[in-house]
Amino acid sequence: MTIKKICGIGAGYVGGPTCSVIALMCPDIRVTVVDKSKEKIAQWNSTKLPIYEPGLELVVKKCRGKNLFFSTDIEAAIKEADLIFISVNTPTKTFGIGKGRAADLKYVENTARMIADVATSDKIVVEKSTVPVKAAESIMHILRANHKPGVTYQILSNPEFLAEGTAIDNLINPDRVLIGGEDSPQGREAVEKLCKIYENWINRDKIFTTNTWSSELSKLAANAFLAQRISSINSLSPVCEATGADVTEVARAVGLDSRIGSKFLQASVGFGGSCFQKDLLNLVYICECLNLPEVAAYWQQVIDMNEYQKSRFSTKVIESLFNTVTDKRIAMLGFAFKKNTGDTRESPAITVAKNLLDEGAVLHIYDPKVEEFQIIDNLSAFDIDNIKNRVNIYHDAYSATKNTHAIVLCTEWDEFMELDYERIYVQMTKPAYIFDGRKILDHEKLQKIGFIVQTIGKRVSRIAVSKTWGSSTQM
Ligand code: NAI
Repeated sequence: MTIKKICGIGAGYVGGPTCSVIALMCPDIRVTVVDKSKEKIAQWNSTKLPIYEPGLELVVKKCRGKNLFFSTDIEAAIKEADLIFISVNTPTKTFGIGKGRAADLKYVENTARMIADVATSDKIVVEKSTVPVKAAESIMHILRANHKPGVTYQILSNPEFLAEGTAIDNLINPDRVLIGGEDSPQGREAVEKLCKIYENWINRDKIFTTNTWSSELSKLAANAFLAQRISSINSLSPVCEATGADVTEVARAVGLDSRIGSKFLQASVGFGGSCFQKDLLNLVYICECLNLPEVAAYWQQVIDMNEYQKSRFSTKVIESLFNTVTDKRIAMLGFAFKKNTGDTRESPAITVAKNLLDEGAVLHIYDPKVEEFQIIDNLSAFDIDNIKNRVNIYHDAYSATKNTHAIVLCTEWDEFMELDYERIYVQMTKPAYIFDGRKILDHEKLQKIGFIVQTIGKRVSRIAVSKTWGSSTQM
């Protein structure tokens, strides 16, 4: 039996784009994406999709109503599917055992129980969500303990490696596809069926099959390695600032070693996104549970370095502005955790905004793709006085920066490189500051205009701050 019908459970940043690309590449397969959120499904069926991702709209337009469907009828979609992708969220637990570190698997478990309740024919169940090692065992346990006579299940691990902002390209041209399955004839058969789906557009030599546990652990390991590279280069940025080295030059020199490579060595205000921190915390927790404290401490340090970088950047802003930002208007350019997405989960901008608000600043925030309600919602999570009057959202960079004392750039949107900074300078309070948390601006040009420029990992405008007297001298 070949796969004719697929059900994708979870219509989020992973489930939506992955299922849409499968529908595009496999016109003979009917793909139904389901979610418990009625609003989200209504958006997937509208002209304004619930997530922004370059190229996604076009893919959805091409397939929706033909072989791609979005629905809230989860039971019907499970019943008719030959293969089910589980792409639900696996956030960090906020309560109980493992609070703040372990992955919360309640959504995965709920879907497993629903599949067991509803299925009347054999199913291949594929974990696409990022899960702790051995999660497939729990899913299998639930399914097999509740199975109906004659219904069999195979569980596969097929972690998703897409990056938000480039998801469609990553899905169409992946570096690799990883599929883990049970080492049994039935397991191998299920792996083969999933391989066949991907082979519609991906070369077989890019499809890597392993045992289930290697596959599950590889996803956590890949994110841990990526985050570690960022923390490694970020850890050198204060060394550069203190010595006169330039972190961009150091990163380039280091990255030219072919054993190291140049990617993911861009120093910045810190990493964000829903995955890196969550998956690292999960890895740390697994190591602690396995009684491997040294390994846990090693990976914990990657997260600690990221926290340090975010707070170091906020402190730099405050210190440079004469050690006080109380009642100062500060423009924040960018709120998403990176460019080309509207996602703000774990965005460094949230931490920077909170730190500035704690010090009494008034924020003028602009992001090209993040909605106003999202920013307010993110900042409302903190106990901040009078937040409504102190957080103002703008719809373009020029109005956001008007009459402000400083610009804090938190997201590397291309449009921020193309702004008319002379125009911006004229309408700012003087001295006018720019803090480039992403190292994307032309610092020399900005200094010529008159800005005092600060960035990460390089001395641009030199500042001598007297901590005792709270005054600073710009040079
Ligand atoms: P998301 O939060 O955007 O989407 C998850 C969706 O699942 C939500 O719409 C939610 O309503 C739905 N859902 C939860 N329980 C459900 C249920 N029982 N029935 C139906 N729908 C249900 O999450 P996102 O970002 O798509 O992540 C999903 C998984 O993929 C996570 O495990 C994440 O770690 C992993 N991942 C995420 C990547 C990313 O860039 N966002 C990249 C690679 C993996």
